[in-house]
Amino acid sequence: MLLYLAALLAGIFSAHLAQRLCFPYFWRDARYLMKLIRYGARLELYKQTAKVVTVVDRFVERARRTPHKPFVIYDGVTHTYGEIDARSNRVARVFERAVRKGDTVALLMSNEADFISVWFGFSKLGCAVAFLNTNIRSRSLLHCFNCCGARLLVVGKDVLDTLEDILPSLQEDNITVWCMKPQSSLPGVHSLPEKIQQVSDEPLSSDLRSVSCLKTPTLYIFTSGTTGLPKAAVITHLQSLKAAGGFWAYGGTEDDIIYTPLPLYHSAASLVGIGGTIELGATCVLKKKFSASQFWSDCRKHNVTIIQYIGELCRYLCNQPVVENEKDHRVRMGVGNGLRQDVWREFHRRFGEIPMCEIYGSTEGNLCFMNHIGKIGAVGRSNFFYKMLFKYVLVKYDMIRDEPVRDQKGFCIHVATGETGLLLSKICSQSPFFGYAGSKQLTEKKILRDVFVKGDAYFNTGDLMAEDEDNFICFKDRVGDTFRWKGENVATTEVTETLGQVDFIQEVNVYGVHVPGQEGRAGMAAVVLRPECTFDGRKLFDLVMRELPSYARPLFIRLQESMEMTSTFKQQKFSLVQSGFNPSDVSDPLYVLDSTERCFIPLSSCVYDTILTGVRKL
Ligand SMILES: *[C@@H]1O[C@H](CO)[C@@H](O)[C@H](O)[C@H]1NC(C)=O
Ligand SMILES: *[C@@H]1O[C@H](CO)[C@@H](O)[C@H](O)[C@H]1NC(C)=O
Repeated sequence: MLLYLAALLAGIFSAHLAQRLCFPYFWRDARYLMKLIRYGARLELYKQTAKVVTVVDRFVERARRTPHKPFVIYDGVTHTYGEIDARSNRVARVFERAVRKGDTVALLMSNEADFISVWFGFSKLGCAVAFLNTNIRSRSLLHCFNCCGARLLVVGKDVLDTLEDILPSLQEDNITVWCMKPQSSLPGVHSLPEKIQQVSDEPLSSDLRSVSCLKTPTLYIFTSGTTGLPKAAVITHLQSLKAAGGFWAYGGTEDDIIYTPLPLYHSAASLVGIGGTIELGATCVLKKKFSASQFWSDCRKHNVTIIQYIGELCRYLCNQPVVENEKDHRVRMGVGNGLRQDVWREFHRRFGEIPMCEIYGSTEGNLCFMNHIGKIGAVGRSNFFYKMLFKYVLVKYDMIRDEPVRDQKGFCIHVATGETGLLLSKICSQSPFFGYAGSKQLTEKKILRDVFVKGDAYFNTGDLMAEDEDNFICFKDRVGDTFRWKGENVATTEVTETLGQVDFIQEVNVYGVHVPGQEGRAGMAAVVLRPECTFDGRKLFDLVMRELPSYARPLFIRLQESMEMTSTFKQQKFSLVQSGFNPSDVSDPLYVLDSTERCFIPLSSCVYDTILTGVRKL
């Protein structure tokens, strides 16, 4: 099949060659496509031979060949490939009898070298690992265990405290908790570090981790997608291998030093960052938490050549005061997503013309775009050949009704070139969609059926995009139930459910509003009070602080008499989003979250001005 494809492509290549030579991107497109096909051929080989060389297999191989090469540099300490390999062997040995191949274990850790050792340790036992978001609060965290079926949890020493209130519930469910603290003070929590020292670091049999099918799950990564509580996206070896090819496709080599300040529990840092480092045999400088003020000094100190970013992060860097030696670094490439045009230009002006390579693709999605040309503002680039490999479409979307437009026959309508539409990606054997663990219903919700013919199925990305006449694809907006704030996806339904717990609230509608000068959207909730009840800003404040991660807390509240619905009985968000949070435009009472007063306080015009001028931090 692939040989046929390659032959076909070669044929089309030469036919189009003469005409396309004058086309400015031809060679770069061709080079990129050849890489894509080479990588695809490798995956095809795994499929044919039923023997998958996984990311961990490649890591073990690297550790054997170059044991002394630095793999991860964290907090000033260099961990070589050999060292992480040996430590992950130890982790595996501790749990050798406690878990079996195919089990799922959960990991709740912030960025550190041991995150990788524990992850690989369990992978070497053939377990799937579920990465938990360290921001997630009590109720959601318990839910995470239910969806991935983990019976064992490993907790980092710095996040152990956040677990205190749900520990009894975990133990009731017979979930064994291990922590990375030498002596745990919490009852029933086992301590891992001593155990690790007591066992051998001899490699385990590779049979334990051997995989015969690319579609075997290897990780669960939680995404706060479009509905409700966090969802466990099933990450199979197929996706993890594809993501690991990211740096390589953009021209990374083993001499690169990659800087990753993003959390490892997201797919960007773990799959693209760590997986990609292994694929190259390069070195990763891991940062616990992104720091705008230390970013460039870290890059200089470690001779960093590739940085991983998200759009918000670049904006924070641009907001830093100008210093003298800003262009003095060796960064030659950035890999990430969500970089907006204005920030992109400013970033280039300030820090030099570093090619910023956008990768578009959600954790669970079955489509990926790469902007290998580096054109400012584009998330990806398509062409004739790409469209043969990836079946994606842009269809007309009705913002007011919050659903795709259908024609008389009930089918979706393609948008014209340059017009914004909803991005859908066909689900087929070439690009399967693995869905979410433990929830058929949630999986089904991301699938759009009967799109162009009866019975077809497409993955609904929820992203609005436009493709211009040069085949560059630009991100425009997200639809419906999610928005991004501080680099995280906020699921409006989770926030809605939480606010609904308050006794004085009858109905809630959560959405994101644009704040001038800020990336993403800030959370806002339109609220209808129960009859005879009054708004209690302090009570609501306490609830959102306790139940919601910081990025998901609604910053603005709007009291309404009644809730407006769309014609299909969904809550009307579009007009609320449009009207924003300016008290001089909105006649309803408005409130703003105030951390100093520990209360939602009335949003007056004065307060509004302090937000716009940046005096009041959101
Ligand atoms: C937990 O384990 C105990 C003892 O093995 C058992 O009786 C109980 O049913 C288990 N609970 C759950 C929720 O599995
Ligand atoms: C960075 O490169 C310089 C010049 O090649 C070298 O002297 C220095 O030791 C390097 N630093 C690190 C941390 O590798």
